[in-house]
Amino acid sequence: MSFTVAVDGPAAAGKGTISRAVAAHFGFGHLDTGLLYRAVGARMLAGDKPIEAALALLPDDLERPELRTAQVAQAASKVAVIAEVRAALVDFQRAFARRAGGAVLDGRDIGTVICPRAQAKLFVTASAEVRAQRRLQELMAAGNPTSYAEVLEDVKARDARDTNRSESPLKPASDAVLIDTSALTIDEAVTMAIAAIDARR
Ligand code: CDP
Ligand code: CDP
Repeated sequence: MSFTVAVDGPAAAGKGTISRAVAAHFGFGHLDTGLLYRAVGARMLAGDKPIEAALALLPDDLERPELRTAQVAQAASKVAVIAEVRAALVDFQRAFARRAGGAVLDGRDIGTVICPRAQAKLFVTASAEVRAQRRLQELMAAGNPTSYAEVLEDVKARDARDTNRSESPLKPASDAVLIDTSALTIDEAVTMAIAAIDARR
């Protein structure tokens, strides 16, 4: 039988870190759905039409290192407001969620739209300042020089676009467990996530 964990929340809240640890703990597969939108955003920056790019997306498109840049993140949040782009990506995400042996999907609309009947739902958040600081460290470590002010602006712009769009806006599902990681270590956040999932098993 399949078991789906939905993990949603704003940029750099710790969704991916928690999802990877939870997937390893339970032996589930993990899909970072942000990569789908980043891959479409990257294709738009290269001159392709977003809807056509979403319909033609291949698994190899999700492996490209340049998907991690702030420029691609902004493009991702722009293509993510387009209903046809979102619709083109639904089946792939739902098929992954149904895989035997369990699945963790992280994104913005997993618990609300993609998998409304997921057995466990987490909403992972943190203050914009903490998230910008964490993302700054990641970008610097990956050799993408930037400033705190720039990263904070990027995070806030994407939060606003993701929250205010009419298609699948970012919001906690009514049955999601809230995890605010602002003052938590990664270990503490992962322990809370595992406890919340264990309670639904
Ligand atoms: O997937 P999402 O964009 O929500 O965030 P992430 O890439 O998992 O995490 C952003 C950064 O915050 C990573 O470098 C984590 O190591 C760090 N972090 C965290 O995820 N949770 C904490 N409690 C503390 C730091
Ligand atoms: O890692 P981070 O949280 O910064 O971003 P991401 O998860 O890679 O998502 C990039 C952008 O894709 C987001 O700002 C959203 O606009 C969009 N996205 C979405 O609309 N729905 C999802 N399920 C996942 C991402």
